[in-house]
Amino acid sequence: EKVYNVVVLPGDGIGPEVTGEAARVLELVSQKAKDFKIKLQSQLFGGAAIDAAGKPLPEETIKACEAADAMLLGAVGGPKWGVGKVRPEQGLLALRVHFDLYANVRPALFPSQSLVKHSPLKEDIARGTDIIVVRELVKGLYIGERQEADLDTPGSTGEASDMMRYNKHDVERITRLAAYLALQSKPPKKLHSIDKANVLACSRLWRRVVTETVEREFSSQGVEVDHQLVDSAAMVMVSNPKKLNGIVLTENMFGDILSDESSVIPGSLGLLPSASLAGLPDGKSACKGLYEPIHGSAPDIAGQGIANPIGTILSAALLLRYSLGRPNEAEAVETAVRKVLDAQEDGGLGMRTKDLGGNAGSKEIGDKVLEVLETLL
Ligand code: NAD
Ligand code: IPM
Ligand code: MN
Repeated sequence: EKVYNVVVLPGDGIGPEVTGEAARVLELVSQKAKDFKIKLQSQLFGGAAIDAAGKPLPEETIKACEAADAMLLGAVGGPKWGVGKVRPEQGLLALRVHFDLYANVRPALFPSQSLVKHSPLKEDIARGTDIIVVRELVKGLYIGERQEADLDTPGSTGEASDMMRYNKHDVERITRLAAYLALQSKPPKKLHSIDKANVLACSRLWRRVVTETVEREFSSQGVEVDHQLVDSAAMVMVSNPKKLNGIVLTENMFGDILSDESSVIPGSLGLLPSASLAGLPDGKSACKGLYEPIHGSAPDIAGQGIANPIGTILSAALLLRYSLGRPNEAEAVETAVRKVLDAQEDGGLGMRTKDLGGNAGSKEIGDKVLEVLETLL
């Protein structure tokens, strides 16, 4: 019997609340599975690790992650640690780089079609959107050389800088991953590459390498790509998002911003899951991955038991699909989530947290997802 090891990194703020519910889902999957087990283990990470061990990514946590098949993360950061010298967020960047998790897949899909009615966008604009953001995750402004401004020494220039750097290989591999995802649908999904090629050298490299990689390796299989500038794409995403249906392929910082924006379509930041991968999840080799909701630690609602756990539960589904190679169990989790969110007139339970206009708590949602999942496994 195969045993998978999953490290849970609850982190800060609502992190422990949402990973708690997702961990229960993985435990149930493990309990019901006939030919495999999932062993979960929690480790210190983020602000919680700074408080306990003086740094956001302690060695013990790295070691446990190295030995694991996958990692499930809540969120890190918060006002307690602010933006000082040692920051929880540094741990997240270090973890992504340590495992070379270059591909961040962020589906902005409706987990339940009933939610279309509640989208902040008009119903006919929201309905039928189908966008997956693929964000490059280990290069660009996040990783390049950084110079902090010295504002306290008289006579210093008071200048800060952050270096954006990409090379051909970086762009090729993220393009291949986006094309791989596009090819999971028949006909293949369209790629929309987003850049700022009218200003940035990195974007001109990006545009050319994306075009050439798609033409050389994927156009014979029907993959097509278009290119858009990020400012206008950000406007299109909330005015006519169906124009971006397919895979939105972009660099690190643009992807961070556009993925939060994309969550407006299904209606809440709390709904969106993500997978950060170090290679194609094609089942040919073990695919180590970090799975987390796209939202942060939500200090404004932390500790109240009202955070939406769906983004994290759907991240656990992606973990089952991509790192454990268990598509049936992944689908069962997604179906359970859909039935909990679906309106009663659509045959569901119509249970939602406050961010979606409901009054269910995180744990109540978790309980119901487990109850439905139990019948599906
Ligand atoms: P945030 O994503 O934490 O919150 C933005 C808004 O969305 C808040 O109003 C919050 O209450 C709401 N929200 C987020 N998740 C929700 C959920 N599951 N259910 C209901 N409502 C939810 O962004 P922020 O406030 O700008 O950042 C807070 C901290 O989180 C910062 O320290 C930031 O660096 C960190 N952060 C961490 C991650 C991560 O760990 N991956 C991601 C984003 C931000
Ligand atoms: C995210 C977060 C992180 C990022 C922060 C916390 C470093 O916003 O995962 O989207 O910017 O990548
Ligand atoms: Mn973000």
